[in-house]
Amino acid sequence: MVGFWSPILGFMLYVAKIIADQPPNAVCQDTGREKFGWALIGHDYKSSTAENFGQCFFDCTLDEQCQSATFLWNTKECKLKKETKKSRPMDMKENPAATYMENPFRAKKGSKASIPGSSCKDILASGDSQGNGGYWIDPTDSGNPFPVYCDMNTDRGGWLLISRFIMETLNSSNDSSTESDSYRAILPAYTSNNQYLLRSGFNQLKQDMGFTQIRFYCFKNATGRAFHIMTNEDTNGTNVVNFFTTSDNIPVACGSFTRLPDDNSSLAVNCDKWGQPTKNRWGHASKLTNDRLFLRPLTWSLTRFYRLKGGSRYQCDDKTFPLSVGDIWQVFVR
Ligand SMILES: *[C@@H]1O[C@H](CO)[C@@H](O)[C@H](O)[C@H]1NC(C)=O
Ligand SMILES: *[C@@H]1O[C@H](CO)[C@@H](O)[C@H](O)[C@H]1NC(C)=O
Ligand SMILES: *[C@@H]1O[C@H](CO)[C@@H](O)[C@H](O)[C@H]1NC(C)=O
Ligand SMILES: *[C@@H]1O[C@H](CO)[C@@H](O)[C@H](O)[C@H]1NC(C)=O
Ligand SMILES: *[C@@H]1O[C@H](CO)[C@@H](O)[C@H](O)[C@H]1NC(C)=O
Repeated sequence: MVGFWSPILGFMLYVAKIIADQPPNAVCQDTGREKFGWALIGHDYKSSTAENFGQCFFDCTLDEQCQSATFLWNTKECKLKKETKKSRPMDMKENPAATYMENPFRAKKGSKASIPGSSCKDILASGDSQGNGGYWIDPTDSGNPFPVYCDMNTDRGGWLLISRFIMETLNSSNDSSTESDSYRAILPAYTSNNQYLLRSGFNQLKQDMGFTQIRFYCFKNATGRAFHIMTNEDTNGTNVVNFFTTSDNIPVACGSFTRLPDDNSSLAVNCDKWGQPTKNRWGHASKLTNDRLFLRPLTWSLTRFYRLKGGSRYQCDDKTFPLSVGDIWQVFVR
């Protein structure tokens, strides 16, 4: 009962305070959650008329979707918003006749289907990360959110899991596989092995959600080395992202990626040897397939591979098949 009533009590005290503080004379006063003289532009999902700011604020606190409210004093419009000044700082605009107020009881973005983020990166930027795990996103604001896995720790976080394979039992390598051009079909199956998002679906995700980096991770007990790199946010890295989404121009390997601190692979320090037939290249010239992200994203001919798919799959900094429980492959974007 206390858990139920205390927000309401807190809220009533709060309203009493707001009414006592009546703006709009108190222009540009920023007390953290409330900002007199400011409006959050856009991101409305509901607009109504409210008697006063207190009522508008109250409506927001009672609505589970409401992240913040903007009240327009002249027209008495109460706009309930899906975003906050933290998640969309660029959309905060000065307006002497407006008051912005964040919902102090707001649910964390991504924590439920009714409050999806637009990406893992968006949830992180909104201050709503709850660590690595499942979150809800809706990249196109379609009203049909879906669950995904976000890595909120590695290199500042904000990574969306695209694909994984984990040897959970000695039989895992026989787990069934799915290939699809629909990211809505593949991404929610983040606890399953062998879910492959094909190239046009990967490109669709890039268009709908936006991402600029791809990160590859694997660790295999038989080699004892972790391969862990992310593409750079520059021209060379962008060429790699393009190669996996739209382009058949085979990108240069060296200088296109950064090794993460736990990388101790020999693949990552031998980028000059990647590529077939031309060296210092991503991919494989004769494997420009729709599953290139998983099939031969990078190849050191006859020596070492990163590979999830195809005839001799599950290669991690080696070219052989032995697998152990705990071996892991993961591809992320942000
Ligand atoms: C592995 O598969 C075999 C049959 O293919 C089955 O007998 C065994 O129980 C499975 N083991 C596990 C851990 O699933
Ligand atoms: C996987 O399935 C094949 C037959 O489809 C079988 O020969 C093999 O032993 C299985 N492997 C494991 C690890 O269960
Ligand atoms: C490589 O790093 C992993 C942890 O990421 C560690 O378990 C392994 O022992 C390391 N291997 C070598 C050869 O240093
Ligand atoms: C990008 O790749 C080119 C080779 O095409 C290389 O000369 C350059 O150093 C790379 N840029 C960076 C920032 O590493
Ligand atoms: C990991 O590798 C070591 C050395 O190659 C081996 O002794 C051990 O059994 C492996 N672990 C598993 C779970 O297969």
